[in-house]
Amino acid sequence: MEDRYLTFALGKGRLANKTMDLFEEIGIKCEEMKDKDTRKLVFVNEKHKVRFFLAKGPDVPTYVEYGAADIGVVGKDTIMEENRRVYEVLDLGFGKCNMCVCGPESARELLNHHEMIRVATKYPNIAKDYFYNHKHQTVDIIKLNGSVELGPIVELSDVIVDIVETGSTLKENGLTVLEEICPLSARMIVNQVTMQMQTERVKDLIAQLKAKL
Ligand code: PRP
Repeated sequence: MEDRYLTFALGKGRLANKTMDLFEEIGIKCEEMKDKDTRKLVFVNEKHKVRFFLAKGPDVPTYVEYGAADIGVVGKDTIMEENRRVYEVLDLGFGKCNMCVCGPESARELLNHHEMIRVATKYPNIAKDYFYNHKHQTVDIIKLNGSVELGPIVELSDVIVDIVETGSTLKENGLTVLEEICPLSARMIVNQVTMQMQTERVKDLIAQLKAKL
């Protein structure tokens, strides 16, 4: 048995539940975490010498970069936006969706003609990289914290950069996908020092998880 605890940071919500289902499949259980009423933040599995904690998604890469967590599970969108010094080691295959430029159909022309447009988003770094480095289009990026679809509806922005999963939020608000930026899914990230010091243990974990995907 390993002597050191391996610490996992999981993005709160659906992603964490799916991750724990996957860990159960390789024999790592944490019954306490299933209690919906618990306000506990850290959960320990003594047998496997692992502990889990739940964090806000955008904080997961931060915990992993600083080594407060050895391993994190979080969406590719968050990894791209936070741009932390961590290793991305595994695509877990769930939480699949796309990062897209969306808006009313009428905004398509503005995009095609590289007009100076306003872009509302929770992901200013991803939006900047896409418009400046890939499209070479100068835009005005406006950071929002949620319900980004409101942007074009209330005329805060011409388009949005956001996650599209089923497409129903767009549809119900008269918006559509105008350009696809990239596919997204849940990923496993590893602290750089952990990767060096615990190589075998981390590799073994990745292999076991891969076998279940
Ligand atoms: C996300 C995203 C879209 C929606 C897409 O929002 O920002 O609004 O889900 O899903 P759909 O294509 O299946 O409709 P989330 O629910 O995370 O809330 P938020 O708007 O507060 O970010």
